[in-house]
Amino acid sequence: MRTDTGQVFKLEDYRRPDYRIPETRLSFDLHPDRTVVVSELLIERADGVPEGTPLVLDGDGLDLLALDINGEPLGANAYEATPDRLAIHALPKGPSFRLRVTTRIDPSANQALMGLYRSSGVYTTQCEAEGFRRITYSLDRPDVLSVYRVRLEADKAAAPLLLSNGNPVEAGDLPGGRHYAVWDDPHPKPSYLFALVAGDLGVVTDEFVTMSGRRVALGIYVEKGKEPRAAYAMDALKRSMTWDEEVFGREYDLDVFNIVAVSDFNMGAMENKGLNIFNDKYVLADEETATDADFANIEAIIAHEYFHNWTGNRITCRDWFQLCLKEGLTVYRDHEFSADQRSRAVKRIAEVRTLKAHQFPEDQGPLAHPVRPRRYREINNFYTATVYEKGSEVVRMIRTILGVDAFRAGMDLYFERHDGDAATIEDFLAVFEEVSGRDLSQFALWYHQAGTPNVSVKASHDAATGELVLDIEQSSPPTPGESRKRLMHIPLAFGLVGPDGRDMIWETVEGAAVEHGVLHVRKRRHHVRFTGIAERPRLSLNRGFSAPVTLSVEERPEDRAFLARHDGDLYSRWQALNGLMTDAVIEASKQLRDGRAASFSAEIAELCGTIAADDRFEEAYRALALSLPSEADIAREIGSNIDPDAILSARNGLIEAIAGANADAFATLYDRLADGGRFSPDAASAGRRALRNVLLDYLAAGSRAPGRAAAQYGDAGNMTDRSAALAVLVMRHADAAETKAALADFEARFGSDALVMDKWFQIQAAAPGTGALATVRALTNHPGFSIANPNRVRALIGTFSSANQTGFHRADGEGYRFFAGIVLEVEQRNPQVAARLATGLRSWRSLEPRRKALAREALQKIATAENLSPDLRDIVERTLA
Ligand code: TRP
Ligand code: ZN
Repeated sequence: MRTDTGQVFKLEDYRRPDYRIPETRLSFDLHPDRTVVVSELLIERADGVPEGTPLVLDGDGLDLLALDINGEPLGANAYEATPDRLAIHALPKGPSFRLRVTTRIDPSANQALMGLYRSSGVYTTQCEAEGFRRITYSLDRPDVLSVYRVRLEADKAAAPLLLSNGNPVEAGDLPGGRHYAVWDDPHPKPSYLFALVAGDLGVVTDEFVTMSGRRVALGIYVEKGKEPRAAYAMDALKRSMTWDEEVFGREYDLDVFNIVAVSDFNMGAMENKGLNIFNDKYVLADEETATDADFANIEAIIAHEYFHNWTGNRITCRDWFQLCLKEGLTVYRDHEFSADQRSRAVKRIAEVRTLKAHQFPEDQGPLAHPVRPRRYREINNFYTATVYEKGSEVVRMIRTILGVDAFRAGMDLYFERHDGDAATIEDFLAVFEEVSGRDLSQFALWYHQAGTPNVSVKASHDAATGELVLDIEQSSPPTPGESRKRLMHIPLAFGLVGPDGRDMIWETVEGAAVEHGVLHVRKRRHHVRFTGIAERPRLSLNRGFSAPVTLSVEERPEDRAFLARHDGDLYSRWQALNGLMTDAVIEASKQLRDGRAASFSAEIAELCGTIAADDRFEEAYRALALSLPSEADIAREIGSNIDPDAILSARNGLIEAIAGANADAFATLYDRLADGGRFSPDAASAGRRALRNVLLDYLAAGSRAPGRAAAQYGDAGNMTDRSAALAVLVMRHADAAETKAALADFEARFGSDALVMDKWFQIQAAAPGTGALATVRALTNHPGFSIANPNRVRALIGTFSSANQTGFHRADGEGYRFFAGIVLEVEQRNPQVAARLATGLRSWRSLEPRRKALAREALQKIATAENLSPDLRDIVERTLA
């Protein structure tokens, strides 16, 4: 583990590298616990750098065996080597030289899963962001691009498969049962995109012919016997390749494209050039073992990593402050892909729910940072919802402001101008300014300023004059290190909905620029005057969630209900109903805390009944409309002094009210939506299952008898229906014999399939109430659980801390104490995963005073532990600050 130097890296300290490395040759002699790496680098001194400037290479825990320059071993005085750094003072004269570095590493001992490690007997690598320095000394920074040739040598029986980046050029047998392969990647790339895989895996192959007629051999490598489960990922890959050609004009650029699924992986997947490495959770799927959500995630992540080939690899980042240049843009691209492959409205609602659930709390808490941060201690902690999801929203706003054609023209110019570059956000914004002639300097604040802006709107209508006036005001709350905020450019898509439910057309508008249904808020206050508005309209604001802001609108309660029935924008219509539900639960939770009974207006239940039955909408949309905001969503809206128990009771009260009012209709619809045992993963079929499973939850809440859920569990022909039924049993019928039987059955069926068992861990970890802690604690001793595997930790502990409001936030603080202990235990092996897990306590300040104090104690327990890793120290110190 690296020692924490407490060093802070700052954007303004960026300097171009003194040396370039145009060519890299790597040779790996792979052995499980003693791998020797020979790295031969062609090194050139950069223009303007004086001769004699020392060469300083990055390392991390390395063991140097040999070192020579131009074939001559270096004398002991010529260099200084520590595990974390290699500085060479005595360099040959002239502009370039060849450096040869030999290091020895132990893949089997590597439990941090960064650098070269073993997963289920397979050698694999993860180099982003700074993992390459755990393999060999190098200029491990993204603005040093090199052409790689890689030779792998391993035991042929244990590792018949030898993969690296680029195209295969040579392979053969060696004495002693060993063999080798050579790979050549002609595209210059930074070290973080290097990868190798060696092992014994099964494969699914296919072929893709690009738009210019080039043949690409596709391979997806998975654990032997699981090949059939890779079929959907292969299909998603081919669709992604076609889509990037059609929508962005981007063609693939190597003869092969390989994907490898591994079972120990810190994140979702990694876009290494020509050799994507995936968490197997995002590759393997079939109807018996994967849910519709799993299929959708696989499709999105396969696309995401593939799209990185252009946005990330061909054009990479100058430094890690620019991470959103590749991540925000690539998330935007995968969102658009999924919207085109599935339903655009449904996809948009799902995106906004994710953004609000993950990015908003980050932006509104102690870990808030700009989409392009200006400082970091540990870059691993900046792979955040802000960089990824808000980064995508910022790209989306550029499209909203420019329009689709200018946006595409800007993207074309970006690819043309920066292919082969390590670029910056300034480079990215410049192409859009150039093609559109617009000044995006105020807009650029979305990259530079943290926090979620608020827009408040007040409307007044004068029927006599036909005038509508909107008083709009923007404000941005302070965030850590940024107390004063500048005014943002906020593109608000909107409509004025008339009494007939249609959008009204105005004669004139003044007070703000309005273009194509988008109102551009740029000043602190706008007094916007519309004329030709005969009747009082309902305001449909931030349609399609055109800007990632919070809105406070002065409106009559009946306006919301009207929009929930009539808004022509499907997103805003969903938002209106969801807002009504949220307010109803908040109101009921107040009643409960005041010792009163919770009461609900009949209108929400009636609206739910109407939308459930409305065949004009796709089932997936109806399912989203009927899904109540989560307990965490409601807590976030309340904002402070949060009592999770009151929220749970209030939310259940609303579910029961909706279920009670619609019992017969929901039961009839539930029966009608049965699929008769046919399965297809397509969006329409998934939508029917989603709606049916939402109805199952209502029916269970309404009846208190486990019969229907137990029957669905037993009859289920696919994992979506089976796991949904199991979740309903656990949530709604915790003590029923049927629930215990279903849990036992699930374990008996899938006990040997770790990915499926993650669902079993998740469902139990999410069970509400104080009893969950004992269950979770017991499950840490289950033979299927492993503290060393990130997927297991996320399924059990991650779910408990992020999706179990009443269990985790137990009033006695036992949830927090348990959690702190686990975080420290995970950290012993894997600081990156521990740091991410620890963000589960970031909203501690919003809790009611008793819980708040207990949560702080748990954070302090982590903060004062000995030998804390830089990753975890960074998170807990910022969280407590
Ligand atoms: N670049 C990857 C992606 O978003 C993210 C990633 C995968 C990653 N593994 C990582 C980031 C390990 C940091 C550390 O597609
Ligand atoms: Zn990415």
